[in-house]
Amino acid sequence: MATTFTGLEDVAASEVESLLGRRAELDVSKVVVECDKRELVRLVLASRGINKVFLELVDATVSGLREVGDIVRSLDLRGVVSQDQSFAVRAERVGTHDFTSMDVAAEVGAAVIQSYLEATGVRLRVDLNDPDVELFALLRDDRFTLGVNLVGRSLQRRFYRASGHRTALPATLAYLMVRFSGWTPERALIDPFCGTATIPIEAALAGLDVCPTVYRDPRDLALTRLRLFEEELVESVRSELIGSERRERELRVIGSDVSPRALEAAKRNVEAAGLSGKVLLEMLDAQRFELWPKLGELGADALVVTDPPFGIRSGPSDPYEFYVRSFSSIRRGLRCGTLVAIFSKHVVATRALAEAGWSVTASRRVKYGHLEVLLVRAEA
Ligand SMILES: C[S@@+](CC[C@H](N)C(=O)[O-])C[C@H]1O[C@@H](n2cnc3c(N)ncnc32)[C@H](O)[C@@H]1O
Repeated sequence: MATTFTGLEDVAASEVESLLGRRAELDVSKVVVECDKRELVRLVLASRGINKVFLELVDATVSGLREVGDIVRSLDLRGVVSQDQSFAVRAERVGTHDFTSMDVAAEVGAAVIQSYLEATGVRLRVDLNDPDVELFALLRDDRFTLGVNLVGRSLQRRFYRASGHRTALPATLAYLMVRFSGWTPERALIDPFCGTATIPIEAALAGLDVCPTVYRDPRDLALTRLRLFEEELVESVRSELIGSERRERELRVIGSDVSPRALEAAKRNVEAAGLSGKVLLEMLDAQRFELWPKLGELGADALVVTDPPFGIRSGPSDPYEFYVRSFSSIRRGLRCGTLVAIFSKHVVATRALAEAGWSVTASRRVKYGHLEVLLVRAEA
């Protein structure tokens, strides 16, 4: 069970299918795939657009909290938690119920302890801060799912990010935007509002077949604390993925921004990602994009993938005029090409793109956290 952003389940599923060669099923903000243990490790280490991966233990329809407890009590958890390990239950509840998500967590936690005690005579330790095994219980209306968290903190955490940046896009969302755009490494890709360069970096890593999670500190991956996954297995999948990188590939991936501070952060991230020489960074005002002297190098099939100001958390005061000026200049500069962008001001963005001469060919609402953004694909 792999979680992603609501609205992008199909894009995430296509990544999972291409990684495992197996059919993935779509669900709300997640995709589900049947696979063996090695493939599961591969999914954790190789996916770029997935936020978390869980090993699903239960997926059932229930009539209430009591039944949730009954189902969990009937599980044999000896293969999942060892006697000397601690565990925690995190719970989420969606829909109308006469109990809270904390009640769900408490019910599941008590049922785990009881079932384990009956099977082994051992009372499992609960550690809510730093558990060895984290169980995730989701009750959506009458559907109860229970899974073991295989990643710990979200895979959005990338090894190349030196520090958090207020407006930085989640890396997994940046990758899904690149995937949604249909970019292939032979084409030029440019992000004219690159900020800390999340989109260019995610594109370049994908273009070189580099899997970012391979470089995450292994101690920060829940998988390595689970007895289910032998160290040799994880190491063998990791070496296989590193062995198939294509770092020699030539890329035309460009990030530009008007802010020197943003570009400094972008440069640090690009270097930390090992992408110096692969991602070009330029100082450019997107409203004057067409004046950029290197435009001729982009070719006729360049793609723009971007998260402009107001996209999520930043921006000047008149978004409509700003978008019309910027996206007109980008269109005139490229002459043809495809644009993929996210906006939080849905109506303003759609009107401004039309005014700037872009035809929207696909759009969808994407949710993450408390934000709902409009993801657009448009042709010049
Ligand atoms: C929402 S942020 C992009 C964040 C980026 N996706 C990241 O992950 O860090 C928008 C960026 O647009 C830049 N920006 C604002 N006005 C601009 C302009 N006229 N031309 C180019 N960049 C501009 C800002 O400096 C900011 O870095």
